[in-house]
Amino acid sequence: MTTSQGPRAHWSNRWAFFLVTVGSAVGLGNIWKFPYMTGSNGGSAFVLVYLACILAIGVPLLMAETLLGRRGQGNPVATMRVLADEAGATRWWQVIGLIGIVGAFIILSFYSVVAGWVLEYTWRAASGFAALPKEAFADAFGALLASPGKLIFWHTVFMALTAAVVLGGVTSGIERANKIMMPALFAILVFLVGYGALAADLPAAFRFLFHFDPSAINRGVLFAAMGHAFFTLSLGMGAIITYGSYLGREVSIPRTCLAIAAADTGVALLAGLSIFAIVFAQGLEPAAGPGLLLQTLPLAFSQMPGGHVVGLVFFVLVVFAAWTSAISLLEPGVSLLVERFDLGRKAAVTLLSSGVWLLGVAVALSFNEWSAFSLFGLGLFDLLDTLTTKIMMPLAGLLIALFAAWTMKRAHVEEEVGLRGGAFRLWYGVVRYVSPVAIVLIFLNVIGILG
Ligand code: PHE
Repeated sequence: MTTSQGPRAHWSNRWAFFLVTVGSAVGLGNIWKFPYMTGSNGGSAFVLVYLACILAIGVPLLMAETLLGRRGQGNPVATMRVLADEAGATRWWQVIGLIGIVGAFIILSFYSVVAGWVLEYTWRAASGFAALPKEAFADAFGALLASPGKLIFWHTVFMALTAAVVLGGVTSGIERANKIMMPALFAILVFLVGYGALAADLPAAFRFLFHFDPSAINRGVLFAAMGHAFFTLSLGMGAIITYGSYLGREVSIPRTCLAIAAADTGVALLAGLSIFAIVFAQGLEPAAGPGLLLQTLPLAFSQMPGGHVVGLVFFVLVVFAAWTSAISLLEPGVSLLVERFDLGRKAAVTLLSSGVWLLGVAVALSFNEWSAFSLFGLGLFDLLDTLTTKIMMPLAGLLIALFAAWTMKRAHVEEEVGLRGGAFRLWYGVVRYVSPVAIVLIFLNVIGILG
């Protein structure tokens, strides 16, 4: 397909697709959200359900979403139109693309505010965290949340960083940034786990994450773990469809997707291990909630040998992780604006990131000036998080499964995914029955119809 911008861009090679998609998947979800959700949802119980969701729902859908993107070769909405036409189905399926683009817009608005916290802490880490009593760290984080100026400043910096990369285009912007940041991220992570093994309490962290205790599983844990499986694999939000649409035909989707999911899960578990190793070594509270990364860890860094360097390196890691994910949240909407409305890349990036920025300002203000606002008992931040992660993502995932396994012609799916025989039947069966049923069951369970 060509647009007025010339022939459609493609990743330079298979390795590039792997890197950018891991870059999208590995983000604040792995390093900020996963540890605090694990800490607040009973540790190993959450990990167990999360791993099950990744296997039964996440990986099969990651493959399905990638294959839709590669076959459609367009922005998320155009891709769904092309594929619906090919299958002789209603064009209403375009709603998958639309949910994705709107969802990505919303996620990026609060994602950027959280990434802004991380930028502020990277800045603080550069001069070292002073050894102060525990309350001082909680107060320092509280003071940041209470300061609209600081929140908006760092949110603006982060959106500018994200926009700058997307402006560079598919290969010279997105691919290049990932090729630098992702290897650095892995190196830092290995260093941190090594440090955790030597200087912190790795065995305690291991017990906390893997001492499987099914009795702690309840409705809340199920729902949270499913939502998080979607979030961490970047599913249903246009990111994977879009990145898949820049994918060449020579790449094996199953193998690459398995590797991507393994890398993403590996990073979450390693980050969890190193963070809890530090938390337990310092006798701190694992269930500190969203502040875990920003209150508990700086306190630990201020007391550990070599904490100054480790702290700085750690926050740089989180910035890289967040940045490469944010890029993948901006690109789907940009590709839509460019292809559908014939905007130049520059205009599309400016327009979209300004919109996201504006919603992000509202999120930043919801922590202070507008903190009285709430809907269904949730502040704006939790509201947007719940709406996207727990509702829009599973819904988009369900529709993707139904489209790929019930609406598309089986022969087309088989040809695109490139699996044969038993392997194909297994995957197809999972996407056809297991994933949709699991998503619906968890939904019903949460609404209280089941259980
Ligand atoms: N997967 C990213 C993370 O874990 C977040 C993300 C969600 C990115 C959806 C793109 C699309 O932080």
